[in-house]
Amino acid sequence: MSHWQPDSWRSKPILQQPTYEDKQHLKQVEGTLGSYPPLVFAAETRDLYKQLGDVAEGKGFLLQGGDCAESFDEFNAPKIRDTFKVILQMAIVLTYAGRCPVTKVARMAGQYAKPRSGDFETIDGVSLPSYRGDIINSFEFTEASRRPDPQRMIEAYHRGASTLNLLRAFAQGGLADLHEVNRWNMAFVENNPLKGRYHDLAKRIQDSLEFMSVMGINSSNTPVLHETSLYTSHEALLLNYEQALTRVDTLTGNWYNCSAHMLWIGERTRQLDHAHLEFFRGIHNPIGVKVGPSMQEDELIQLIDALNPTNDAGRLTLITRMGADNLEKHLPKLLRRVKQEGRKVVWSSDPMHGNTFKASSGYKTRNFDAILREIQQFFAAHKAEGTHAGGIHLEMTGQHVTECTGGAYQISDDDLAQAYKTQCDPRLNADQVLEMAFLVADHLRNA
Ligand code: PEP
Ligand code: CO
Repeated sequence: MSHWQPDSWRSKPILQQPTYEDKQHLKQVEGTLGSYPPLVFAAETRDLYKQLGDVAEGKGFLLQGGDCAESFDEFNAPKIRDTFKVILQMAIVLTYAGRCPVTKVARMAGQYAKPRSGDFETIDGVSLPSYRGDIINSFEFTEASRRPDPQRMIEAYHRGASTLNLLRAFAQGGLADLHEVNRWNMAFVENNPLKGRYHDLAKRIQDSLEFMSVMGINSSNTPVLHETSLYTSHEALLLNYEQALTRVDTLTGNWYNCSAHMLWIGERTRQLDHAHLEFFRGIHNPIGVKVGPSMQEDELIQLIDALNPTNDAGRLTLITRMGADNLEKHLPKLLRRVKQEGRKVVWSSDPMHGNTFKASSGYKTRNFDAILREIQQFFAAHKAEGTHAGGIHLEMTGQHVTECTGGAYQISDDDLAQAYKTQCDPRLNADQVLEMAFLVADHLRNA
């Protein structure tokens, strides 16, 4: 295998990249970013690696979620706080039901670059470059907005840094107190139209906390009740940015991508001989790869061997996104082969990207029941193959948007216009995502 360098990806074919007109400006931005402090510390990344190693061995569960695309305009404290809160609320439900530790990884503080199905978007006969995420260009449909601007990488870095700063403060500063989180869950259940369905589990969690408290185990003497750890992740699509934040860790001498704890490769850029595979093979972070219905068994083994040649548990998470109607046909054979060959991976389910469709109203949407069905089938397939259903990966927000249909509030096609705010894919809203957690809890318990 050839020698790896942070820039060795540059000699490989690469897809889904912007064309920057001003190469000088690009170079200058890369230099500036390269001189900035890392956003995360390699030792934190190793903690996550270790936790994911436990998940790969069947001793934990990965909960990963956040926006499809973070937005520069919707960059504010309430938004960050609300998503943080629902991730914690889901985690407590899943931890209790699954009787196993839940590792929380946010799609936040850097989820700014998007692969697109076409290079151009045409509206009323006018064709402009597609929107590729706020780190590259702007959503507005004008020539100036859609022009890729390297300066946006600097903006993304600063926004990522402040987001991460606030997340760290929330995690350590008292907002993550388990009693508090459970009070939010009780309030969610009380207000939900399907309250009967969720009440029992929420009440049992409440009783457990009260019992511990009577026994003298409380937030003031037990740090795990009062604080938490939340890791960050994004699709490392724009390699100019990712390379600039890739640094040698002084403790181990290894290269880490310090733009987030965990990075993943998207379904559209995971070709074996392409740039993204090359870049990812040299960084020591835990990494993910999206796995869609076209993946063949041999190809998957080659991919695993390229990214995790030493077969370390925790290094690689396979995020399957088959679609509810396709999963049974495509997933079991992959599970069987990976198990047969003894490869250690975390299997996680992205039930979002295989279930997207255009509603009659014209909005891109996903239906709650299809999302749930893909998760149910994911658990069933793992049970049948004797492998560990290790996690879920959701596009979600803590806000009350109307982007996915269904759920207890029965959001319909006609409701989508009310609060359709995503700049890319439709997200589960705060209520839908908590319902999802309560419903997934049953499967975790059985698994
Ligand atoms: C995403 O996670 O937002 C995404 C683009 O997914 P995929 O690569 O699976 O299409
Ligand atoms: Co998406």
